[in-house]
Amino acid sequence: TIPVIIDCDPGIDDVMALTLAFAHPELDIKLITTEAGNQTQEITIHNARTFTSYMKKNIEIARGLDQPFFRKLETADDVHGENGLGNVEFPEPTIQVSNRPAIEAMKETLLSSDEQIILIATGPLTNVGALLLAHPEVKSKIKYISYMGGAAVGGNMSPTAEFNVYVDPHAADIVFRSGVPIVMSGLDVTHKAYVTLEEIKEIEAIGSDFASKVAKMLRFYIYSAKQTAFHAPGFEDQIHLHDLCAVSYVLTPELFEGDDCYVAVEIEGKFTAGTTVIDYAQQTGLPHNAKVLHTVNREKFVEQFIDAVQKMSL
Ligand code: BDR
Ligand code: CA
Repeated sequence: TIPVIIDCDPGIDDVMALTLAFAHPELDIKLITTEAGNQTQEITIHNARTFTSYMKKNIEIARGLDQPFFRKLETADDVHGENGLGNVEFPEPTIQVSNRPAIEAMKETLLSSDEQIILIATGPLTNVGALLLAHPEVKSKIKYISYMGGAAVGGNMSPTAEFNVYVDPHAADIVFRSGVPIVMSGLDVTHKAYVTLEEIKEIEAIGSDFASKVAKMLRFYIYSAKQTAFHAPGFEDQIHLHDLCAVSYVLTPELFEGDDCYVAVEIEGKFTAGTTVIDYAQQTGLPHNAKVLHTVNREKFVEQFIDAVQKMSL
């Protein structure tokens, strides 16, 4: 099995990413931590608990930080809805909030593990940044960070910044300068990792309560993304499953292609705060700190996702 910790801000595509992780027993999910991002901490931890309980998984869920390092929290409630899950409701959770705060839980999980752990991060990097600052001794226990965030070309929150980095660029800066290897699923690859309305119908046809909830969330996501800058032009009947890439890469790296690069995070800038600057041309001469993904086998990726929904419907 592959030991992982998942740090997330659910979020419609975050729960799709959890679905894929839950469907694959070869992933040993040691811990789930939440943070503010798509919605406030209150809502993201509630969603992590309700969703994980509904999926009948018994995993520790720990509460992370409520606010970005310095910037005022900007949520994406316009894209993910008031409840963060496209207003699709799940039953009351059976899993309680862990009595360990997220940073402590992450530290203890990493330090007590014999094997290196992969950290999957699908929200702003607030928790991970705080962990690496407070407890640098955990670094050697992290195999790599599979991160959804950033963009080489074109943002979704500003001309050049992607949402997760934009929300907490200071935390992202700490993580990218930490020396821990990073696989970056930025918009360059996630915009190629979409599902179509036709495929959503296929999911609905599975016929389970879960499949119908997934279809509802994805329809909401298509609709809301259409109204916002979150949507790339020409994507009217399809929606990007951004966060799913970070889990899919861990399971099936062969579905993806990318380049090793030096990546810097712009923490300030009139137009560019929250931008990941990808040094493709090696202008800085600085050593590579990330593999920046740019290509995915969409057909296999969607097949993997639909299989996961089917499996979790049983
Ligand atoms: C990222 O922003 C969030 O809204 C999504 O959950 C994803 O993590 C995409 O830019
Ligand atoms: Ca997310």
